Amino acid sequence: MAENHPRCKIGPSILNADLSSLREACEKMMSSGADYLHLDVMDGHFVPNLTFGHPLVKCLRPKIPDAFFDMHMMVSKPEEWVEPMADAGADQYTFHIEATDNPTELSRKIRDAGMKVGIGIKPGTPVETVIPYADAADMILVMTVEPGFGGQKFMADMMSKVKLLRQTFPEMDIEVDGGVGPATIEQCAEAGANMIVSGSAVVNASDPKAVIAQMRAAVVKELGN
Ligand code: DX5
Ligand code: ZN
Repeated sequence: MAENHPRCKIGPSILNADLSSLREACEKMMSSGADYLHLDVMDGHFVPNLTFGHPLVKCLRPKIPDAFFDMHMMVSKPEEWVEPMADAGADQYTFHIEATDNPTELSRKIRDAGMKVGIGIKPGTPVETVIPYADAADMILVMTVEPGFGGQKFMADMMSKVKLLRQTFPEMDIEVDGGVGPATIEQCAEAGANMIVSGSAVVNASDPKAVIAQMRAAVVKELGN
């Protein structure tokens, strides 16, 4: 196993939480063993749904000072929100490759703003599309549902993308998002994912701590850490 093989990180998505108590929902996830928070930004254009933007992140940041914020930017113009998100206190900016003409320049802009770079692909986007840009990124996100809504069914046929990415980039952070929970985590872990987004399976669980621990155990078993 390589020295710097990727570590298992579990990042709950609060999309399906009680958003009237967002701060408490985030605190609960962190105290349940989350490694980071996956925050879903939707613009009603790139995806058929609306959520929130940088003003909310700016309010949340001082209340949840220690959590790593992974911004999942499901927006049509990802270039426009880099500086506002950095200013709001985001740690990682994950854009969709389908939404930009120049992933290299956008990645540089994100780095220059002091954030880590994530690049996401939708289910219909071939994995080969993202491979040329992997050097510019810290993380690649393989969507395992059509982006837009929580609580959808996991698409197991996306695991071939994860496998190819893990073979090609043994040290890279590879994230899965959509329909991931105790019933599907083993497939993700076996394919080589190390950053695990889970929304409804964690947020709606009576014991989120146990669900996070169970998913971590499955990933650690494969990764060895
Ligand atoms: C879907 C979002 C996901 C979603 C995951 O477009 O990107 O992060 O909240 O929720 P579950 O785990 O319920 O599919
Ligand atoms: Zn997401």
